Amino acid sequence: MRVDIGNALDEVATPGIPEDALDRLDSRVADAHERIAEGRAAHEHGYESLNLPETVDTGAIREAVEPFQGSESIINVGIGGSALGSATLSSALESDVDAYYLDNVDPEWIERLLEEIDLSSTAVNVVSRSGTTAETLSNFLVVQQAMEDEGVDWAERTWVTTGESGNLRDLADKHDLPSLKVPDGVPGRFSVLSTVGLASAALQGHDIDAIVEGARDAERSLSGSLYDSPAYAYGAIAHALDIRGAGVNAMMPYSESLETFAEWYAQLWAESLGKDGLGQTPVRALGATDQHSQLQLYRAGPHDKMVTFVQVADRDDVAIPETDLEGLSYLGGSSLGELIDAEFEATEASLAAADVPNVRIEIDRVDEYNLGNLLYNMKAATVMAGELYGIDTYVQPAVEWGKKAARGLLGGGDFEEADAVAEKNVFE
Ligand code: PA5
Repeated sequence: MRVDIGNALDEVATPGIPEDALDRLDSRVADAHERIAEGRAAHEHGYESLNLPETVDTGAIREAVEPFQGSESIINVGIGGSALGSATLSSALESDVDAYYLDNVDPEWIERLLEEIDLSSTAVNVVSRSGTTAETLSNFLVVQQAMEDEGVDWAERTWVTTGESGNLRDLADKHDLPSLKVPDGVPGRFSVLSTVGLASAALQGHDIDAIVEGARDAERSLSGSLYDSPAYAYGAIAHALDIRGAGVNAMMPYSESLETFAEWYAQLWAESLGKDGLGQTPVRALGATDQHSQLQLYRAGPHDKMVTFVQVADRDDVAIPETDLEGLSYLGGSSLGELIDAEFEATEASLAAADVPNVRIEIDRVDEYNLGNLLYNMKAATVMAGELYGIDTYVQPAVEWGKKAARGLLGGGDFEEADAVAEKNVFE
């Protein structure tokens, strides 16, 4: 992964970072890098996720999914960090095994989805670190019932990925289901390079060793300077732009296959950094599609945003056929790849011309190695930004509040959060 920060400097953009501020920022990056290295060495909660390229056992993951090989599809039941990493890999890479993600609990959507899938040749992967998340457990119970209704032995087709204890662990023990463990010290949104993100990828036939190899190379590029480390450059620049007024960060990959990556990134950035009245709001965008909508606001709206582009250097291409229509003759003989590249360059230049800060992330291809590299780098960028904000990157009290309130409202326990919801309900 390469990062170009030229359009984030104050000679181009407003807000922008003065060149001399970069050196001051770099010395803060050096201090933060030391703190991160200490946290990693001590296997502290959260920092441990940056050790995954060394600690993940891809052989054990492949072995665990081996009994499920031959399935025509896989249903992944999980939400947030327990779904988005795996979904990012799945939507970016081609496979003959279809992967479905049951994260939301919208009943009509779930009903339609389950009708569409041939459950008799489907594997089910239930993922919850805590083992208590209401959406995940409810969706799993619905899938289990749907399988039973179709005479499918759900226990034969299911494995769970969870922590040491919790309802899901109890369920796995009760039915003797195979299980994978979520590693200690790795919060959900940082878990893509572990059992959580890689098991479904392995069943889909993706080369999970290449994913980890890409991550390992990203890990090796972490140094105490933003000038040498693309991950730290991105994290530090996004933070510096935020405190200068770019409170919104639109993540805009120019690749359909990276649309879910933008969703994964938005979760990682928002849930990790939104604390203590601080944090930058991530927005999901897609090039070239959102040039026809959001771009209007980014270029001509308030100067409170930055745009992050992800550009893919090399991809398979489709030729645009020649046409005898004179007005379209400029397209014939060119290709869709050339067109999307031109769209990207035009958008990048148009934002720079309007003084809107933007950062370009470039990857070579959308493949296992480069995805592993990108995902690790963005995790490290988030960790760096968290250090610079001075917040606890690895907790999510607001998310936990909502989970407890929902459980309490459904009678799943005595939670003061649920009482607060009841008190606020003016319609009662
Ligand atoms: O990053 C996080 O902690 C969250 O997004 C969780 O992954 C999400 O809430 C799901 O939690 P669990 O894996 O415990 O079901």
